[in-house]
Amino acid sequence: MDDVIRAEGLHKRFGDTRALDGVDITARRGTVLGVLGPNGAGKTTAVRVLATLLKPDAGRAEVCGYDVVKDAVQVRALIGLTGQYASVDEELTGTENLVMIARLLDFGRRDAKARARQLLDRFRLTDAGSRAVKTYSGGMRRRLDLAASLINRPEIIYLDEPTTGLDPRARNEVWDTVRGVVAEGATVLLTTQYLEEADALADQITVFDHGRVIAEGTSDDLKGRIGRQTLVVRASEPYRTAQLTAIVAELTGEKPEVQGPTGLVTVPVHDPRLVSALVRRLDEASIVAAELALRMPSLDEVFLTLTGRPVEEAEAELVPEGSVA
Ligand SMILES: Nc1ncnc2c1ncn2[C@@H]1O[C@H](COP(=O)(O)OP(=O)(O)OP(=O)(O)O)[C@@H](O)[C@H]1O
Ligand SMILES: [Mg+2]
Repeated sequence: MDDVIRAEGLHKRFGDTRALDGVDITARRGTVLGVLGPNGAGKTTAVRVLATLLKPDAGRAEVCGYDVVKDAVQVRALIGLTGQYASVDEELTGTENLVMIARLLDFGRRDAKARARQLLDRFRLTDAGSRAVKTYSGGMRRRLDLAASLINRPEIIYLDEPTTGLDPRARNEVWDTVRGVVAEGATVLLTTQYLEEADALADQITVFDHGRVIAEGTSDDLKGRIGRQTLVVRASEPYRTAQLTAIVAELTGEKPEVQGPTGLVTVPVHDPRLVSALVRRLDEASIVAAELALRMPSLDEVFLTLTGRPVEEAEAELVPEGSVA
């Protein structure tokens, strides 16, 4: 038993909204726990409770054995938090931001500067360190945010939607950073709206909906429960699309969808081994695939399977959200 985060039966209401409606969470030391869910599912609320920023109405949570309410001081010393909305000061430079936060964490002047330098270097922001943050790209900001949360070498790091709004390259940079801190022994709790992100980073995934945990397990467990991936295939010669579609239909026993203009054929598959069978059939028919992939189910597909309703409906039920960090 080495659960560094353990929460049981967390409840939190805001007026009529049950932001957390009986949530259990556990994270093992040195792993990444992914908390996956659509807008308004309660992810940020859970992070704020675990970060001692918000008291739960009921239930309890421990971080490394310390109670987040009674032992908030000890908990704060163990955690680093990167909020959903950038927490660095736009007008200050990267270096100034990190030095300021280090000073707030009781670093001496010299140590604060040294730590800032170290982190800027590690996040490849050394050159940008002397520029105001308002001139940074989204990816650079997120990296600076992440650097800021690592100043006091926390054992537990909460990352609230660390890559929302980033382009694929910046997202990959953040992913690499997360892998790096975990390799050094930290435990990461990461919230995300992307199944792909949870799949790429998380050892365990907890799926939230309406303040409840609706599923948990490894990425493979979840994929197994969802029971399908999507096969995407396109013939390099468009006139062969009909023949390709017929082969795919025959192999899967499903009716593929064909996108007229692109000739992209998609179909749900339950057995990934089907791909090799398809490759053989295409080969026999001398059809060259310009594109052939198994795609992860999207969050929408996960939701539809787990809850029986699409994400949009879940969101429509929500009251408009203010700027809740
Ligand atoms: N301070 C608050 N006051 C009122 N309502 C709140 C507050 N914080 C959260 N809520 C509500 O609680 C619910 C859960 O919000 P939360 O921010 O935890 O969701 P989330 O999963 O982080 O969503 P997102 O993906 O949009 O960040 C939402 O309906 C939200 O509007
Ligand atoms: Mg949130």
